[in-house]
Amino acid sequence: MIPNAYRSHHCNEVRESHIGQSVQLCGWVNSARDHGGVIFIDLRDREGLTQVVFRPEENPELAAKSHDLRDEDVLQVQGKVSARLEGTENSKIGTGEVEIVATGFTILNKADVLPFQLDRELSNEDLRMKYRYLDLRRERLNRNIRTRHKITTAARNHLDAEGFIEVETPILSNPTPEGARDFLVPARLSPSKFFALPQAPQQYKQLLMVAGLERYFQIARCFRDEDLRADRQPEFTQIDIEASFVKQDDIVTLVEGLVAAMFKAGRGVDVPLPFLRMTYQEAMDRYGSDKPDTRFGLEITNMADVFANSGFKIFKGTLDSGGVVRAINAKGFAGITTGQMIRLNELAIEAGMKVKQLAFIKVERDANGVLEYKSPLWKFFSEEEKVALIAKLGIEENDLVFFYAGSWEDASNILGRVRLEIASMQQLLKDSTALNFLWVVDFPLLAHDADSQSWVAVHHPFTRPKAEDIPLLDAGDYGKVRAEAYDVVLNGYELGGGSIRIHEGDLQSKMFTVLGVSEEEKVHKFGHLLDAFRFGAPPHGGLALGLDRIAMLVSGEQSIREVIAFPKNNRACDLMTDSPTSIDFKQLRELYIQSTYKPKAKETEAGATPEA
Ligand code: AMO
Repeated sequence: MIPNAYRSHHCNEVRESHIGQSVQLCGWVNSARDHGGVIFIDLRDREGLTQVVFRPEENPELAAKSHDLRDEDVLQVQGKVSARLEGTENSKIGTGEVEIVATGFTILNKADVLPFQLDRELSNEDLRMKYRYLDLRRERLNRNIRTRHKITTAARNHLDAEGFIEVETPILSNPTPEGARDFLVPARLSPSKFFALPQAPQQYKQLLMVAGLERYFQIARCFRDEDLRADRQPEFTQIDIEASFVKQDDIVTLVEGLVAAMFKAGRGVDVPLPFLRMTYQEAMDRYGSDKPDTRFGLEITNMADVFANSGFKIFKGTLDSGGVVRAINAKGFAGITTGQMIRLNELAIEAGMKVKQLAFIKVERDANGVLEYKSPLWKFFSEEEKVALIAKLGIEENDLVFFYAGSWEDASNILGRVRLEIASMQQLLKDSTALNFLWVVDFPLLAHDADSQSWVAVHHPFTRPKAEDIPLLDAGDYGKVRAEAYDVVLNGYELGGGSIRIHEGDLQSKMFTVLGVSEEEKVHKFGHLLDAFRFGAPPHGGLALGLDRIAMLVSGEQSIREVIAFPKNNRACDLMTDSPTSIDFKQLRELYIQSTYKPKAKETEAGATPEA
């Protein structure tokens, strides 16, 4: 780094080779200690720590003045680099062999007592968010933000080298359907009209392909008004990509190289390529999830062949009526506690289970050493079924087997959820450092929404149906149509998703019709795209990676809040700037907006309670 007027070195730079040199450092007082009149300061800047010592025998006046230094004061120090006294070296820090014997210092700014200590973990998230600029001074967050910078730079360089051009697209735009609610912005100059903040730059990037740009990318801000989770924020960042004249394999290869470059830059690991590919059907069948975590087994097994002719009516009846019977063998988990069993059943109910309890078999030895199959179901199974069941699931002593009989969707969702929870209860991932990247491909194009009794796009309405499935689309067999869509997954997280797009106006218009978009709406909402497709749109496709999620996984964090400088809290509020905030009447009047909201009794400082 180039030296500047304030400092000659940064605080992680001075080493034994500097001994005898005069240096000038700047930073914050990380800690101040008084050892019998000798004051030791750990001076901290972005790069690290240096110990500064004020000795009364060498400079009594300066040492006396240094008594006033407090944690987090901002300081400029001049001094001489010296070897630490034998036995006082600190091997934990890079500068641990040396110290600066101060010859002068200036307090650049005094600090008040901080609302929390920076060297302790703080569980009060609201306090961390309110003083986020202090939270960011902690080493862990500092490291995360810098790791994020490294991976963003690696992504830019990689895409640039592949011929991709960075283009900014509007933030004030039209609604783009990505499955969430829009954030709306009133347009003062067009009374009673609104912009929507982009849920993704989807339509713009496709229009850039019509414009002939061929290879586009953007580190794009996206806004989605949806329920928050550890891996979701209302405002987040995508590495958004689109290319012309490409097929699925081209995007897959590009993204694999890109993701590997980001992990190399951020974590120093070499990610083996290519990633595994799995169809959506297989992912749901085996893992009950379209973002399977393959770091552990606990796979879901299809039990149809074992119970096809069963005397146990529930299983046989479900199979006869087109449903499925599936099972998971949780090996060695027969010792499950009552509390854990209750929790699993609660999760299964949340995931759609209609009955109160998952059917199970616990395999334990009784007092006489005889293996017992403890289960309300066991007595209903024939000897033949029992043998087949034991063989198929590899059942042994101490195993716990769960069953679900019902629709394929329910069985996948329920057992998928139960699978993850069992893995967590059994701590199967405790020491895992695995990075299991994979692609999920061949997603369905459409899903039937029971609430609205209509078909919705599984990815988004611009996704291309597979050529061989277009006859199914024409025949109205919508549920069977597969899409040219793909997701990239790591350890159970969806890192990114994309598709090859529809580039023909008539196919796009047909897709809108299937999705229940009226002719009038087609013109009003998507006229620009349908128009563009009339003027020579090239075949194109792309994908968007969630940068926050990648930064989280590279940094080994559990929440994307830990890798975003100024995130929203779990009520989508920024406690530091106190936003969102009330707008005064005059400003609203200029926008022709009147609030009809009546505050409910229970409203917190940190934002309306979810039910308000
Ligand atoms: P999709 O909606 O799958 O696709 O989003 C792409 C990726 O963005 C990340 N992501 C989020 N990250 C944090 N908080 C959120 N609320 C959030 N929502 C999504 C995920 C996800 O995989 N336009 C398409 C892409 C395309 O077709 O090219 C799109 O946005 O990591």
